[in-house]
Amino acid sequence: MTLRFTKIAIFLAALIPLERLLWRAFHEGLGANPIEVITHSTGDWTLIFVLTALSITPLRQITRQYWLIGLRRMIGLFAFFYGTLHFLTYIWLDKFFDVHEVLKDIVKRPFITIGFAAFVLMIPLALTSTAWSIRRLGGKNWRRLHRLIYLTAILGVIHYIWLVKADRRKPIEYGIVLAILLAYRAILWAREKSSAVRPGPGRSPATPSPSQAEVTKV
Ligand code: HEM
Repeated sequence: MTLRFTKIAIFLAALIPLERLLWRAFHEGLGANPIEVITHSTGDWTLIFVLTALSITPLRQITRQYWLIGLRRMIGLFAFFYGTLHFLTYIWLDKFFDVHEVLKDIVKRPFITIGFAAFVLMIPLALTSTAWSIRRLGGKNWRRLHRLIYLTAILGVIHYIWLVKADRRKPIEYGIVLAILLAYRAILWAREKSSAVRPGPGRSPATPSPSQAEVTKV
């Protein structure tokens, strides 16, 4: 019941950036360059949701609030949702679906190449976000595939650092958050490796079964 309520609250909260953009567009306007405002806002929120999805596992483990895992899929899907809006703003409002122009940009402008790669990598994650996909792929393969989120996050930060011409403080802040999240996982991974080679007392009863653990660890 509480998880359901929290999920509804987060779902509504996650729509606020879009509602704010629409409200501004219809009431006060989006300034001299509306396309830039929409591109920046949707790009920002894509990265925020990617990093939020990546923080769920550490947060869940540190606080022992295991129910948090139930929010990760929705947050990941919101990252894809804002990523799609960001991409649509670019190909529709900026490039008017001119495929030739878009391809030229992807080839010639490195920050677009990287952003495009980050977005493409999100597609299989969104497509396999269902419980059915986890069952079909198996926990281990699903977890492997979903490690692509790390690459999306890294490319997303590089995309942002490369596109900024002057003040790089904000993309660097995102980069620091990402580095902390990746370092946390690297430490866990190194610990697991070393405890796997050391003979120890078996699994504790609180440890989830392998398939459950595999899916929740991404
Ligand atoms: C097809 C994929 C993508 C394209 C074509 C694209 C294109 C762009 C463009 C044209 C800008 C504005 C550049 C400027 O004003 O000079 C931008 C900004 C941005 N993009 Fe992307 N992008 C893509 C994917 C992504 C993805 C996947 C992420 C996040 C993971 C992302 C995050 C951002 C961020 C954070 C900004 C800057 C926002 C700000 O200035 O506050 N982009 N992108």
